[in-house]
Amino acid sequence: MINYSVDTDGIATISWDMPGRSMNVLNNDSIPAFAGALEKAIGDDAVKGIIITSGKPDFIAGADLEMLQGWKGAEEMFQNGMELQMMFRSIEKAKKPVVAAINGTALGGGFEICLACHHRIAADNPKAKIGLPEVKVGLLPGGGGTQRLPRLIGIQAALPLLLEGKHLSPEKALKAGMVNAVVPANDLLAEAKKWLLNAKPEDAVQPWDKKGFRLPGGIPMSPGGMMTFTAGNAMLREKTMGNYPAALNIMSCVYEGCCVDIDNGLKIETRYFVKTCGTPEAKNMIRSLFFGIGNANKLASRPKDIPTQTFTKVGVLGAGMMGAGIAYSTAVAGIDVVLIDRDQAAADKGKAYSEKLLQKAVGRGRMSQEKAEAVLGRITATTDYALLDGAELVIEAVFENREIKADVTGKSEAVIAEDAIFASNTSTLPISGLAEASKRPANFIGLHFFSPVDKMPLVEIICGKETSQETLARSMDYVKAIRKTPIVVNDSRGFYTSRVFGTYVNEGIAMLAEGINPALIDMAGKMSGMPVGPLALADEVAIDLIYKVRNQTRDDLGDKYIPSPSDATVTKMVEELNRVGKREGKGFYDYPEGGKKHLWKELGTHFPQLPEDEQPSVEEVIKRLLYIQSVETARCLEENVVTTPEDADVGSILGWGFAPSRGGAISQIHTVGVDNFVAECDRMAQAYGARFTPPQFLRDMASKGETFYAA
Ligand code: NAI
Repeated sequence: MINYSVDTDGIATISWDMPGRSMNVLNNDSIPAFAGALEKAIGDDAVKGIIITSGKPDFIAGADLEMLQGWKGAEEMFQNGMELQMMFRSIEKAKKPVVAAINGTALGGGFEICLACHHRIAADNPKAKIGLPEVKVGLLPGGGGTQRLPRLIGIQAALPLLLEGKHLSPEKALKAGMVNAVVPANDLLAEAKKWLLNAKPEDAVQPWDKKGFRLPGGIPMSPGGMMTFTAGNAMLREKTMGNYPAALNIMSCVYEGCCVDIDNGLKIETRYFVKTCGTPEAKNMIRSLFFGIGNANKLASRPKDIPTQTFTKVGVLGAGMMGAGIAYSTAVAGIDVVLIDRDQAAADKGKAYSEKLLQKAVGRGRMSQEKAEAVLGRITATTDYALLDGAELVIEAVFENREIKADVTGKSEAVIAEDAIFASNTSTLPISGLAEASKRPANFIGLHFFSPVDKMPLVEIICGKETSQETLARSMDYVKAIRKTPIVVNDSRGFYTSRVFGTYVNEGIAMLAEGINPALIDMAGKMSGMPVGPLALADEVAIDLIYKVRNQTRDDLGDKYIPSPSDATVTKMVEELNRVGKREGKGFYDYPEGGKKHLWKELGTHFPQLPEDEQPSVEEVIKRLLYIQSVETARCLEENVVTTPEDADVGSILGWGFAPSRGGAISQIHTVGVDNFVAECDRMAQAYGARFTPPQFLRDMASKGETFYAA
């Protein structure tokens, strides 16, 4: 677990090497073992200096979030938090020099151990990540990070790192002052020992424990400090809209803690740590961002007993916006791509898109020229279907048209092996219907990517009626291979993500038709944690596209079509007012060239607004926008369109930007309580329409007192 040895020069080495794990973490096993090793080294007079390092390729990944989830109640959390603080404090109070030999990634609690050491030497390992990412899962560094980092590099430099949870390479960490030296990996331990042997007594005292210590860059109450905190606080409040208490708590914790000495600062930090851990936002983010996405990436729901498929060659049909992006993401993952379009020029254009992205990556120093050339070399742009021979998978991203899709399916299946997978990236056409054009419907599946493909991490995998478990499992292997996150859904109109996302936009448009102030609607959307308000989003998606898909759905469903409360407004915007969205510079907003967008001044004339005193509260508008998404997601669960609450949550966050602090569309129900949610939906169904009526299984859950998640 923690190896301990002392050499003939009196240098003790405490090396983390937790059995059965690829990464060391702070948990209920390693913490006491580390504390024991520290005590031994500190208490032994024969030990002159201590090296803390790791026997694994990485240093320490941070605290085990399962351990944190197991700490019940504020008191236990405070107790455990303070114990950890005191153990780290014993490092800097050891009265002998302690050095961190950071061989690889050191994050969160792992880096906090380094901060407590008197000296930090990192191996020159460009893959290593150093930083305090706690804020990204709604937490606050609780092992001294908010106190030692500002004391080491100054408040101004520390705050962005703490508030954004950014991690740096060793080289950048050196520039930022977070580590003292970067050395070749092979020399790391020798350099650490050399520093210890040369250390003077004052080197074994932290700067903040020395008389006359001054915070680099000034104290919080200096004029510069006041500026940082006042402006920073205002900016943070605007950016987070009250949805991310961890960031505000970090800010307060740094401010308060840096006004006092380190021992009191650490107590303040533990108080804020406990407060932050207890927030629903932290619980939601840990559940969905860490465990939910983590499990999806590990393919937790992959059908068992099917051998893992490796991919060497993938065909992509249609080199337009989506096809070009899919080709890029596949080639970057080391897989050969045959990119086919109707003519050579179109295929070449698709390949040129990858070239552009690769050049950008090289320009920013994120990729070497050799690697970029190798990636580009993997993409063959062509019109020749014969080149698909040997592909394990073909993904079509041609026009959204059944006949064209059927045609390219046939052409591909004539060439590819019997067991190869054929996938469609359709955004609206049911997979089972498209599979009718296939000779091997068991091998036919939907792989729904999001735009822009290179940036969007989610892939919705859609099983048609005849899709086999083997095809599903192997398709999941592909999604993992290109380092994206899969969720598995069943065939249905709009699948899962587009269907629920549509309710957010429609509800916003419906409210406009009711006379609710459009500025209030979009502000509430942002306050709900969505990246943009529903009206602005409608403009971005394009109102004429919403109109087209709506008409298509109406035609397809005939009598079964359930009119949406946004229908009349969408029709009026397109047919009467000719305002189709951002693309044409005019939708619900105006987009002046070179200027900032603003709500269309005549909106109120065409959609009369209620008088001020009849406008709803912002809380009610937020609730409508959030609950309509959650109730539709619950319906998707009931219909087995999305199969697990975890997938529903992950899909809502990664697919359409549902607030991570709310944990996703199902976590939202979980957080407010199923019974409260059902009662509120009943009220809203009365007030706004049957679309809010909760599905029966939610009522059953409420009456039985069931919850979606354990915590
Ligand atoms: P696009 O119009 O940019 O690209 C389509 C490409 O297919 C064009 O380059 C076209 O020349 C090519 N093509 C047409 N017929 C062909 C044929 N018979 N053989 C070979 N190539 C042919 O369209 P986009 O946006 O890339 O969409 C492609 C598919 O992806 C559609 O099914 C769309 O519904 C779906 N999709 C689109 C998303 C988006 O955000 N645009 C998101 C997710 C899915």
